[in-house]
Amino acid sequence: MTSLPTASLLMVTYSLLAMAAVAADDDQVCLTHLYQSLQDPLNHLTNWTPSTFASPCTGFTSHLYGATCNNGRVYKLSLSNLSLRGTIPPNLSLCTSLQSLDLSSNRLSGPIPPELHSLLNLALLNLSSNLLSGPIPPDLALCAYLNFIDLHSNLLTGTIPPQLGLLSRLSFFDVSYNRLEGEIPSSLGNRSGLAVRFNASSFVGNKGLYGYPLGEGRGGGGGHGGAFGDGDRGDRAWERAGEPDHKLRRGLYLAEGDGAEDGDGGR
Ligand SMILES: *[C@@H]1O[C@H](CO)[C@@H](O)[C@H](O)[C@H]1NC(C)=O
Ligand SMILES: *[C@@H]1O[C@H](CO)[C@@H](O)[C@H](O)[C@H]1NC(C)=O
Ligand SMILES: *[C@@H]1O[C@H](CO)[C@@H](O)[C@H](O)[C@H]1NC(C)=O
Ligand SMILES: *[C@@H]1O[C@H](CO)[C@@H](O)[C@H](O)[C@H]1NC(C)=O
Ligand SMILES: *[C@@H]1O[C@H](CO)[C@@H](O)[C@H](O)[C@H]1NC(C)=O
Repeated sequence: MTSLPTASLLMVTYSLLAMAAVAADDDQVCLTHLYQSLQDPLNHLTNWTPSTFASPCTGFTSHLYGATCNNGRVYKLSLSNLSLRGTIPPNLSLCTSLQSLDLSSNRLSGPIPPELHSLLNLALLNLSSNLLSGPIPPDLALCAYLNFIDLHSNLLTGTIPPQLGLLSRLSFFDVSYNRLEGEIPSSLGNRSGLAVRFNASSFVGNKGLYGYPLGEGRGGGGGHGGAFGDGDRGDRAWERAGEPDHKLRRGLYLAEGDGAEDGDGGR
């Protein structure tokens, strides 16, 4: 009779091997779906080919434009400002090692898939300056490491999910210039304790949105952020290229408990 410990050790070994294999396959499925759902008119993604999807990473080396690898998994996707069109596929959620997803400043349309809640390592989500529509998925509150949520300048509708205010590490939140409505949840508009507070610039430019910290009346008419037009924000976006990395590191640093500094000293 095999002793129980040996048997279970074998089982653990097998399941670890199986998990590693599944993990790599997941990146492959994820990248394949992402590529299929994007249009790339300026041909930035020419090395995004099925053979590369099969092994996008060798250790820390990435073979895909815009991808960064860590230990054979894609942990960062930066596909900003590439004139990409198309939609964000639900199966992007299979890139489970992703810590940073930046698809900002493209022409992406359609919804933000609620499935992204499976990206449990995600610290930065930047989908700003696209044509994304539909609601902000409350499910994103399950991504406990989220530091940065930047959804500004899209066509998002509905109310702001109060659940997102439960994200204890959230140090940057920007949903300005969308079509959001309703009262700003106090969990985001009036955070208490050690949580980083967000001012009106996070919420301006949504006609149906009201409540603190926006000024009198709907749409945040009186807010400081009224100074930015969408175009201005877009231009500023490019001046500040490279900032996400810096902010991500800084945010993670802050999240480890080093001080009650404000979220953004960079402006
Ligand atoms: C990818 O997404 C589709 C739905 O869009 C789903 O039917 C399919 O099972 C997913 N594939 C994997 C491998 O999860
Ligand atoms: C903000 O929250 C505090 C309690 O933490 C409360 O006293 C205050 O009235 C709230 N402000 C607004 C504008 O809701
Ligand atoms: C999101 O990307 C834009 C550029 O497309 C950049 O300006 C902005 O700072 C980024 N947001 C975060 C939180 O890093
Ligand atoms: C964004 O793309 C445009 C056009 O492709 C280019 O001129 C500009 O330099 C890019 N900005 C950054 C920060 O890469
Ligand atoms: C709002 O907060 C941002 C940081 O998130 C900061 O850069 C900006 O100066 C603040 N604006 C006002 C009016 O306090």
